[in-house]
Amino acid sequence: MPRFLIDNREVQVRQGKTILAAARKLGIEIPTLCHMDGLGHFTSCMLCVVEDKVSNRLLPSCTAPAAGGMIIETGSDPVKEARRDALGLLLKEHTGDCKAPCTLACPMHIDIPLAIRQLKEGKADAALHTIKRSAAFPAILSRICSAPCESACRRGKYDSPVAICLLMGFAAAAGFENKSPYIPPFESPTGKTVAVIGAGLAGLSACYYLLQLGHSCRLYEQREMPGGTLRYGVSERSLPHSLIDHEIEILTSMGVQFQMKRKVGRDIPLNEIIRSYDAVIITAGEGARECAINTSLEMSDQGIVVSHNSYQASIDGVFAAGKALQPRCTLVKAMAHGRAVAVSVHQYLRGEEVIGLRKRFHSHIGRLKDGEIPEFMKEAEDYPGTLPAAGDSHGFSKREAEREAGRCLHCDCRKKESCRLKGYAEEYGVHERFFRGGERKRYEKIIQHSDVVYEPGKCIKCGICVRVTEDEGERLGLIFVGRGYDLRIGVPFQDLLSKALEKSAGRCVRACPTGALSFNHTHGEVI
Ligand code: SF4
Ligand code: SF4
Ligand code: SF4
Ligand code: FES
Repeated sequence: MPRFLIDNREVQVRQGKTILAAARKLGIEIPTLCHMDGLGHFTSCMLCVVEDKVSNRLLPSCTAPAAGGMIIETGSDPVKEARRDALGLLLKEHTGDCKAPCTLACPMHIDIPLAIRQLKEGKADAALHTIKRSAAFPAILSRICSAPCESACRRGKYDSPVAICLLMGFAAAAGFENKSPYIPPFESPTGKTVAVIGAGLAGLSACYYLLQLGHSCRLYEQREMPGGTLRYGVSERSLPHSLIDHEIEILTSMGVQFQMKRKVGRDIPLNEIIRSYDAVIITAGEGARECAINTSLEMSDQGIVVSHNSYQASIDGVFAAGKALQPRCTLVKAMAHGRAVAVSVHQYLRGEEVIGLRKRFHSHIGRLKDGEIPEFMKEAEDYPGTLPAAGDSHGFSKREAEREAGRCLHCDCRKKESCRLKGYAEEYGVHERFFRGGERKRYEKIIQHSDVVYEPGKCIKCGICVRVTEDEGERLGLIFVGRGYDLRIGVPFQDLLSKALEKSAGRCVRACPTGALSFNHTHGEVI
């Protein structure tokens, strides 16, 4: 029974046990990609390395047996560097986009392809929930946005972009038709209070997300009605007030308290608000010009500086967003600010470091090569764009929306929220610039199974799927084919994936640590 140290803690395991098993016994986490309990060992990713201080060697903990007297460190600088190198090597060969071009171009970063898959499956409610995770007021957004997502849409390289704005508008309209409008889930009340100055899009959006996080919100607005520029600066024809009212009613039923016709600086001093609440967000914009002027006067009097990354001002507990931060802020930008400032305020109220929205790792395919668009078209219907029979202002019918949704190429990675390669790249601070360069592999999509999409460019050759198919006793199963740089996962006798995964498709998709194997539908989608 070897007895040794891991991170200065003594541990004893049975002969033959690995360092990884011993670390787990102590509750010490070691990252792994190619290891899966119960499936035998196969050292390939080298992410699980640890340092043995006695031999001065880096060892793969998933296979290296524990030995008496070892002094193992799991988080030393050489270990971290080796893990970063291992991730860099895997990502150097990686061909895939974590997020679709439409999402990257959207100021709200809506998960557009997921919402489109949900619409295609007739799940308009689910699509609305997806959209509202990033954009509080989809009906308004679909009327005011200039649709940069459509200019970026990859389908435009084949014929014409997917009508994303009309699809988002359809999901929002479907939500209106529900007897009870969608109210997002709430965290338990935190007892913290937030004052929001200005009931324009930034302020309203901030409340939408802060309420969900369990904080109570009071909005101060000098005008009679909430909505700011939306109500007082956009024509009723482009944006019917009934749409604004509907979206604001949802916010009211979520518990926001409106203090209308209360001008900060005239009816209530800013300092009193700062004293009375746990956090204050100043968003007052054009619709509340005087308030904004007073506010900025007070702010400049006090020499306040606001961080454009975290929206945090130099007065403790004060944040600024929307036009209070950027006088030329567009409406869509204001809505995006509202969500971002809510994240910062939440971090502040929890006593965490205020960093705002976390920068996520993103793998990029970059410019498409000749012959790659047909690979993306494998998942899309090859018909031209759909026009709403009732006219653009009335939008799509259900049938039209489902038809148009069928044109999407699904450029995103279906596992972007669960991919362990991405998660570790974020944890170890591996950025794309550290590993890019050289020729990338050609993008390929393999659609040979009713439930599964296989994207070889995202495979890290961990072999887990091969071992799962063996374990399940598949007749054909998966195997490694080729050698070296051309090594890949394949089906014996070049048969179809459907034949290889007759009973193990779900288990393989769930076990695959990246998006190389994913479900093509949203009911099984790991998001
Ligand atoms: S084809 Fe679909 S996923 Fe790709 S950019 Fe267009 S809308 Fe987004
Ligand atoms: S497999 Fe992971 S890293 Fe690769 S595109 Fe998908 S989410 Fe991004
Ligand atoms: S496809 Fe198989 S070998 Fe490739 S990453 Fe997924 S589980 Fe590993
Ligand atoms: S080599 Fe140990 S988990 Fe991959």
